[in-house]
Amino acid sequence: MRKINVEVVVDNPTYFETGTLITFIDTKTATTQGIIDFKGDLGESCVRYYSNNTFINVGLGDTTIDMTNEVKFLKGVKSAIKSAEELERDEVYIFCGNDSYLLDIVSLNAQLALYKWDKYKTKKDDDYIGVTKLIFIIKSESEFAKSIVERNQIVAESVFFARDLQNDNASVVTPYYLARESMELEFRPKFRTQTIHNGAIKEGGLGLLYAVGQDSVNKPYLIIMEYNGAPEDPKISAIVGKGITYDSGGLSLKPSDSMLDMRMDMSGASAVLGFMKYVAETQPKKNFIAVIPAAHNSIGSNSYMVGDVLTAYDGTTVEVRNTDAEGRLVLADALAYLVKNYQPTEIIDLATLTGAVVSALGDTMSALVSNSPKLVKKIYEAGEVCHERVWELPLRDEHRDAMKSDIADLRNMSKIGRNAGSITAGAFLENFVDDIPWCHIDIAGTAMNDKDGGTGYGVQLLIETLL
Ligand code: BES
Ligand code: ZN
Ligand code: ZN
Repeated sequence: MRKINVEVVVDNPTYFETGTLITFIDTKTATTQGIIDFKGDLGESCVRYYSNNTFINVGLGDTTIDMTNEVKFLKGVKSAIKSAEELERDEVYIFCGNDSYLLDIVSLNAQLALYKWDKYKTKKDDDYIGVTKLIFIIKSESEFAKSIVERNQIVAESVFFARDLQNDNASVVTPYYLARESMELEFRPKFRTQTIHNGAIKEGGLGLLYAVGQDSVNKPYLIIMEYNGAPEDPKISAIVGKGITYDSGGLSLKPSDSMLDMRMDMSGASAVLGFMKYVAETQPKKNFIAVIPAAHNSIGSNSYMVGDVLTAYDGTTVEVRNTDAEGRLVLADALAYLVKNYQPTEIIDLATLTGAVVSALGDTMSALVSNSPKLVKKIYEAGEVCHERVWELPLRDEHRDAMKSDIADLRNMSKIGRNAGSITAGAFLENFVDDIPWCHIDIAGTAMNDKDGGTGYGVQLLIETLL
């Protein structure tokens, strides 16, 4: 994993000796200082040299930075970081003054902008590897400022961890690999991890997860991680992440181009693991249970078949109309398992579930389908704060009806095909959560994009929602 060294120092950049410094300048100061071709507009950035120093200025505009304008501002921070890398700087100073809000958003987003997926790029000794150290300069000694930066370093590391899992080969990140990563957490205080493997999945009655994973040599796992940080508190928040380590579509084979990103069909799982890593590092006084159904949806002579009727963990029967609608199957078993064995207070699942969500909301927002307006509100507000945004879709009886089968209790592909596809997928899942407040987050659009690969979407959203 890429490691960024982070430091906080108290200093005054007027005496800045030598190096590369990112500074934030509002329109007024930019005018008085007369920086050529730089007006200090919000999100604007430029590089200027003064003797031995490189100053990278980022515009603050003419009001204070708050939630309404920080997205634009952070674009400037990101391009400032990119400029430092174009100049092949190893370490960058960032002057944040006494503004803890600025320090918070900058210290997180500067780190996030430094992520690289270069594991498979061959390297020579003298190759530039990017900025490896960020030094945040504050004006006066402050434990609070230090704690903000420390916390954001853990957030960034958790996001990097999730992105690495997303980006690596499907032949590396197998269900077993995810299980092993989760077992690492068991060595941390207050953690307990349990994995249920192939044969035990079948015998345990998780018929949907077993069927999806049965053809692959990389056999399925159900991963259960418990974190007990508040033993006296009856509240347990559950999180579930779709862990399809590769989605070929199965016998309902995907077109080749659609398979390109399907090593990242475990992005729900990586978000959950990233969140649990953050929990392990920060040891909050809360209770969590995380469940990951992990399987490889492969095509072969032992693949599960279109037309088969399968039985879920809770006894519900499901007619398989399309083996590419596998995510909802593995999630259904995971949800049923969670409800029966743990009775959590609330459930949030994250899944790259439908292509339809990309058409509906693009790559900047995830879709919510839920039985709990209260939980929706909580996640929506968290999403606005951390910029991992969400939007609720309606869930009505026509969607529920569309998932009913003539020959079984449910069907895995709706009667109305791909229309309202993200909603009907949610309607299917709703059958497995009883009356527990639940929210499904479809991250098929936000978890990955052509430019960045895996985004680690969901780690920050879960941290903001649950902590
Ligand atoms: N993993 C895919 C959804 C997906 C699509 C994720 C694009 C990321 C990017 C999922 O398993 C799937 O194939 N869904 C089908 C459902 C359909 C058969 C009802 C889809 O969306 O086409
Ligand atoms: Zn699929
Ligand atoms: Zn899938």
